[in-house]
Amino acid sequence: MSAADPAGEGPGPTTDLSVAPAPAGLSVLPVTGLPDFRPGDDLAGAIAAAAPWIADGDVLVVTSKVLSKVEGALVPAPTDPEERDALRRRLIDQETVRLVAAVGRTRIVENRLGIVAAAAGVDASNVHGDELALLPADPDASAAALVRWFADRGRRVGVVVTDTQGRAWRNGVTDVAIGAAGVLVLEDHRGGVDRFGNELVVTQVALGDEIAAAGDLVKGKLAGVPVAVLRGLDAPGAPAAGPGAASLIRPAAEDLFRLGTDLAVAQGRREAVLLRRTVREFADEPVDPEVLARCVAVAHTAPAPHHTDPVRFVHLVDRRQELFEALLADWRADLAADGWPDDRIERRVARGRVLWDAPAVVLPFVTGDGRHDYPDRRRRDAERTMFTVAGGAAVQALLVALAVEGLGSAWISSTIFAPDTVRRVLDLPADWEPLGGVAVGRPRSPVPLRPAPQQDRLVRR
Ligand SMILES: Cc1cc2nc3c(=O)[nH]c(=O)nc-3n(C[C@H](O)[C@H](O)[C@H](O)COP(=O)(O)O)c2cc1C
Repeated sequence: MSAADPAGEGPGPTTDLSVAPAPAGLSVLPVTGLPDFRPGDDLAGAIAAAAPWIADGDVLVVTSKVLSKVEGALVPAPTDPEERDALRRRLIDQETVRLVAAVGRTRIVENRLGIVAAAAGVDASNVHGDELALLPADPDASAAALVRWFADRGRRVGVVVTDTQGRAWRNGVTDVAIGAAGVLVLEDHRGGVDRFGNELVVTQVALGDEIAAAGDLVKGKLAGVPVAVLRGLDAPGAPAAGPGAASLIRPAAEDLFRLGTDLAVAQGRREAVLLRRTVREFADEPVDPEVLARCVAVAHTAPAPHHTDPVRFVHLVDRRQELFEALLADWRADLAADGWPDDRIERRVARGRVLWDAPAVVLPFVTGDGRHDYPDRRRRDAERTMFTVAGGAAVQALLVALAVEGLGSAWISSTIFAPDTVRRVLDLPADWEPLGGVAVGRPRSPVPLRPAPQQDRLVRR
């Protein structure tokens, strides 16, 4: 490489960069010389006076803050920083419809307009020290009013009202459209075909946000320039009465990211136990043994006395029919011994088929592993109770783990009443105490989350 050949490419055709004419494109023009607006000011008139060059087809990109000012969406605020911050927090609460994420003192919320943004759009920037700004009451209506003002004077313009927002996944803020009129804000290519013949399945272009961001390239770089004009966009596509920027808001129910990660995890944790409900009717599909194993592993994390692990879960497969028939025989015998007539016995046992019909059955047992022995009955009984309640904790843990995996369960008592039969049929050690049976399967119908529990159920003296 030499000084005469800096790129080291050797001799080749030269391009004279100074003479090629630029193709037509888009211009982003700042509207300079606008005043500091106050409530009641004529914004449209001021824009027209400052930019007499505005032409048909132009799109005005207007910072929402100036609309907040002229529309009087300002709140008098104390100048003391602490009091000012307290008022700011109260206003954020007032404007908040739903908390989406909280990071330290920053709250990302859905506000009354459906817009998800930090601090609900309550803003202390670019306003006097003794006031705070809220977002305009209806930015789409504000945009429509500006479009009408120009239309009344023979100028066909579009308007995009902008706010500055951070984004998930991306560093840095950018301007987005929160109000619009006379311009297409969402271009739907769904059902179209690209130039390679591929069908466009989900492509919708957020033109409104692109226009807002383009406007900010000149607004953001020049202090005191709250309005820009985009020239050279295709003629505004939508009539002034068309869908405004509200159409850019994805409904929370369709939003894969409707909740910040930390809040979503916290909600999942809070709801995990409430998800468990007794499910007695199951879809006709098998239970994945791997999921079952995962849930049983979770169940083994339940607390147990003396650092023991005394609970065992048996996945009942081979001798299922045999065991159920033996249990049924025991049950019938018990009811007959109670003096029940045969027809009543048959009606009763016909209602007790949850385990029979379940896609999978898990039998929990508590064993004597690690149980302390005592010379007296009182302490032996207490020790036994202690292990039995530990078994209950493990079963509940299993049921919650199943619910979290989307599996329904019903904890059925039957084996508790026939321990000898269970041990005999399944060939189990004498110290294994059955704790019932757990029917497992995909619920036949959705299981609603249990309503929030009554608040104060704590018994105090
Ligand atoms: C130890 C134990 C034994 C149970 N035995 C039966 C049973 O034999 N049959 C049955 O249908 N439900 C049985 N259940 C389930 C309860 O009926 C059920 O938990 C209750 O109806 C409350 O409903 P939920 O679990 O949805 O809160 C049993 C529950 C426990 C804790």
